Amino acid sequence: MNKDLILDKISKSFFQGVKHQRVLDGINLKFSPGKWYTIYGVSGSGKTTLLNTIGGIETPDSGYLYCNGSSIYDLPDRKISRWRNRSVGFVFQFFHLIGELNVRQNILLPCRIGGISPDFDWIERIIKVLSIDSLMSRAPATLSGGEMQRAALARALVNKPSFILADEPTGNLDSGNSAKIIKLLEELKDESGAGIILATHERELIETGDEIYEIKDGKIKSGKKGE
Ligand SMILES: Nc1ncnc2c1ncn2[C@@H]1O[C@H](COP(=O)(O)OP(=O)(O)O)[C@@H](O)[C@H]1O
Ligand SMILES: [Mg+2]
Repeated sequence: MNKDLILDKISKSFFQGVKHQRVLDGINLKFSPGKWYTIYGVSGSGKTTLLNTIGGIETPDSGYLYCNGSSIYDLPDRKISRWRNRSVGFVFQFFHLIGELNVRQNILLPCRIGGISPDFDWIERIIKVLSIDSLMSRAPATLSGGEMQRAALARALVNKPSFILADEPTGNLDSGNSAKIIKLLEELKDESGAGIILATHERELIETGDEIYEIKDGKIKSGKKGE
């Protein structure tokens, strides 16, 4: 099955008082599993809005998100949630691990939510790549930032999604841990075959990935690497 994600003329505006802001202005993009896409933009340029739209969280005002031949936002909410749970894994700047659950429970959460039996061989493989075997019974609050993000990466991958959506995943890490997370994402991409869609305002990351896009004034400005 073709698992490409296709954005077709996606637009989204926000109103703050009388001020109208077109954050996404007719965006057309195509993402394929197994490739790494870096979306660069300054703060406020719409990166989070774009990622949330790609991930089935933020309904656009107009335009379509297609996957597996379905127009995702035309599906009933229940089906959108089900698609999201199986097809995308989110990774955030502030990790968003659940404080009341230990690392193992956090990682298994998407399986619980989706009613999916965990594939323990797969989980063992990603835990090994991420070197978090010894952290499984720890509470998130006892972990370093780099360890929290590695746990969050495992959680994002547990259901073998076709895409990982990473919203400023290194924005809260020192440069050593930041480089480590980028390298791990690369390894996880190769291991799982997932596509990576990474949003960042860090100029240093612009050279990372197969395709580089810049979001500015609601539009995607540039395409391939080196242009
Ligand atoms: N729910 C919302 N209501 C009103 N304005 C919003 C909302 N979400 C985002 N915005 C505005 O849209 C713009 C883009 O935000 P965002 O997608 O978070 O950008 P980025 O992630 O690139 O920093 C910002 O100006 C922000 O204030
Ligand atoms: Mg953001």
